[in-house]
Amino acid sequence: MYHRLPLKLVACAVAAPTLLYALFVALLTIPYLQNQVIYLHSVTQTGPLDLNVPEQWGFLRNQVTPFHLRTPDGETLHAWHVLPLGLYQQHEARLVQEEPAASARAAPDVSQRLSFQLLRDDPEALLVLHFHGAGGTLGSGWRPPSYRAMSAAAPDKIHVVAIDYRGFGTSTGSPSEEGLLLDAQTLAAWAMNDAGIHPSRIVLFGQSLGTAVCISLAQTLAAAAAMTGEEDKKSPVLFAGIVLVAPFADVATLTATYRVAKTVPLLGPVAQFPGLLTWLNTYIQSKWPTKERLADFVRACQRIPGDGPKYDVTMIHAQDDYDIPWVHSDVLYWYGVNASSPSGMTLEELEREKVASRVELGTVVGLSLLAHRPASSGNRSPSTACMIGSCRILW
Ligand SMILES: *[C@@H]1O[C@H](CO)[C@@H](O)[C@H](O)[C@H]1NC(C)=O
Repeated sequence: MYHRLPLKLVACAVAAPTLLYALFVALLTIPYLQNQVIYLHSVTQTGPLDLNVPEQWGFLRNQVTPFHLRTPDGETLHAWHVLPLGLYQQHEARLVQEEPAASARAAPDVSQRLSFQLLRDDPEALLVLHFHGAGGTLGSGWRPPSYRAMSAAAPDKIHVVAIDYRGFGTSTGSPSEEGLLLDAQTLAAWAMNDAGIHPSRIVLFGQSLGTAVCISLAQTLAAAAAMTGEEDKKSPVLFAGIVLVAPFADVATLTATYRVAKTVPLLGPVAQFPGLLTWLNTYIQSKWPTKERLADFVRACQRIPGDGPKYDVTMIHAQDDYDIPWVHSDVLYWYGVNASSPSGMTLEELEREKVASRVELGTVVGLSLLAHRPASSGNRSPSTACMIGSCRILW
């Protein structure tokens, strides 16, 4: 009697966390909860700020126009059109006079706004379509400062339009792989048809989850074009470029490596048993097979007739990224390069080529452009850039 109690306690101490963890993993097979973990859309990180009053983020009066996009399946997406500062300065007097978009509501008709007209009527305007990562809204964290930074290369030309996907922020619906692709297609159609910006003046920018959305969008539009080619409606849509910040190979690879807040490997214990992890992955509905889609995209582009570069992909990944390990960009890059040569390329061949064509860009701690560890050196080292195929910084 006397000895049993501690034993029981020990047994409980071991069994309880194991059972709780098993319960957690079991819950992940329920699509609703799984989506909450993959998309983190319930975590808004916007505090008391109102997404319809962008001035609260330090933008100038009417520099940002909040507006709505309707998707073909009836969702309403919240969007921001961010004017570059140089252009704002040229039209400041008129912009300041305009009533802010219906006093704290999204502009009912964005085409009536001066900001929209400045975008549409400038034949040299450049547009970045911004696809954010999981969690938060288009107003979270460093996202608003990054919209500002993007116009630095041409402060009177580069506009940014960012959206909250379905289920994020004040957009309606709930996220899914098909849904987010439809959201991206809706934004691209708005940019090309409503704003009249030719795709050669549009860059897709994605971060984390947004990179998967960008590649899906680009691949869908290029593949449709490659197969048909003739009809006007389906003529090739090739964007000026695609910028991927912290991309990932696919969700299945990510589940094995993902760490919450730098430390907790969410599925680390499961990953010890590859069979179990594979089984669990069959329950994942949002697979985002980005590496295959990037390869399909490259192949589709190459089938489109005509000279000149058809695609331009830039990958940016911190070497010490603790959410999405750097190896994801390595894998993606390999799939992209492999697809660009008819006979393919092994990882070893690619590594040799990278070493041979590497361009030193100086030391940037933790950040590299199209960077790949030199095969020979293991330490964190100078940033490196590897130019193979048609990879280049935008504009
Ligand atoms: C590389 O390309 C070859 C030829 O197109 C293909 O058979 C192979 O599956 C590709 N490998 C990868 C890892 O994409």
